[in-house]
Amino acid sequence: MKYEIAVLDGDGIGPEICAGALRVLEKIGQKYQHIFNFTHFDIGGCAIDKWGEPLPRKTVDGCLKSDSVLLGAVGGYKWDSLSGDKRPEKGLLGIRKAMGLYSNVRPAKLWKSLAEASPLKRELVKDGVEIIIVRELTGGIYFGKRESGVDETGAEFASDTEKYTVPEIERIMKIACELALKRGKKVVSVDKANVLESSRLWRRTVHAYAQKYYPEITVEDVLVDNMAMQIVKNPAQFDVVVTSNIFGDILSDEAAQVTGSIGMLASSSLGDGTRGLYEPIHGSAPDIAGKDIANPIATILAAAMMLRDSFGLTEEYAAIENAVQKTLDGGWRTADIFKEGDKKVGCAKMAELIAENI
Ligand code: IPM
Ligand code: MN
Repeated sequence: MKYEIAVLDGDGIGPEICAGALRVLEKIGQKYQHIFNFTHFDIGGCAIDKWGEPLPRKTVDGCLKSDSVLLGAVGGYKWDSLSGDKRPEKGLLGIRKAMGLYSNVRPAKLWKSLAEASPLKRELVKDGVEIIIVRELTGGIYFGKRESGVDETGAEFASDTEKYTVPEIERIMKIACELALKRGKKVVSVDKANVLESSRLWRRTVHAYAQKYYPEITVEDVLVDNMAMQIVKNPAQFDVVVTSNIFGDILSDEAAQVTGSIGMLASSSLGDGTRGLYEPIHGSAPDIAGKDIANPIATILAAAMMLRDSFGLTEEYAAIENAVQKTLDGGWRTADIFKEGDKKVGCAKMAELIAENI
């Protein structure tokens, strides 16, 4: 089969980690006889520098014409002083919205050979951790009404609005329930219903929806502040977690660190079709860009998720996951997961080793 893949390298370490993922896809293509055509488009800071905007029309069109999209990361110090709608991050938010990708699945898994890299005590993670965070991606405070100005007392103010509709909550709950059916048949829904009206609607809606369409699934509510604590207290208790855009953003970084390094976590963003956007959950790490020391594994696993979730290539997905496991078992580590006694390698070499293990 032939697949058209749009590659949005972005900023900072984006180009290096994407190159690593493309190397692995190329190897998969050879082994399983697929043709992957890669077309690169600009997004984020590099697009601002080149085209004056973080998300050029050409990029949106290219993504909408592709079979799926792989993204590195956006942002950097250079563009930090730009106003809100001109920042590199606006490019990422814009492409999620333009492609209708409301569902962001972020699996935080502790790899057996990386148990030592978790900052938590061994006894807390010894039985493994795999939290699948299902984050709503095109609603809530990220896309709600924004205002700034001077209020009636003369004070300067700014506000962002958290708004959700029932259909928005139902469609993300559906994704969580479908995942839960294949796993532990339980969904933990995270909100702040003791304070926020939007969370009270969220809570009512997820329960009503599951009762009606997925009666075999248990839905448990956890308040977001408690959730932040539970993730470090007993991460093994969680399986599928569904939450809003902003809570999912925050909790997925926390869950990532629990599993050792944010450099290991991939995510898939999908809407109603099969065309998705796949990216590592970490940022552009401008401080280490261009030094060939970044960890490409999150992006490689993101490419694997693309094969499975957009193209239905489950065997190829497993081949990449096994190759990552094998490489880690071989003692190979990038700087972020390196401990005394391991073999330290750079970004390109790590990708090469994984490709060789396929
Ligand atoms: C993420 C990132 C983005 C987000 C930023 C870069 C806009 O933190 O994908 O988690 O907040 O969604
Ligand atoms: Mn984030």
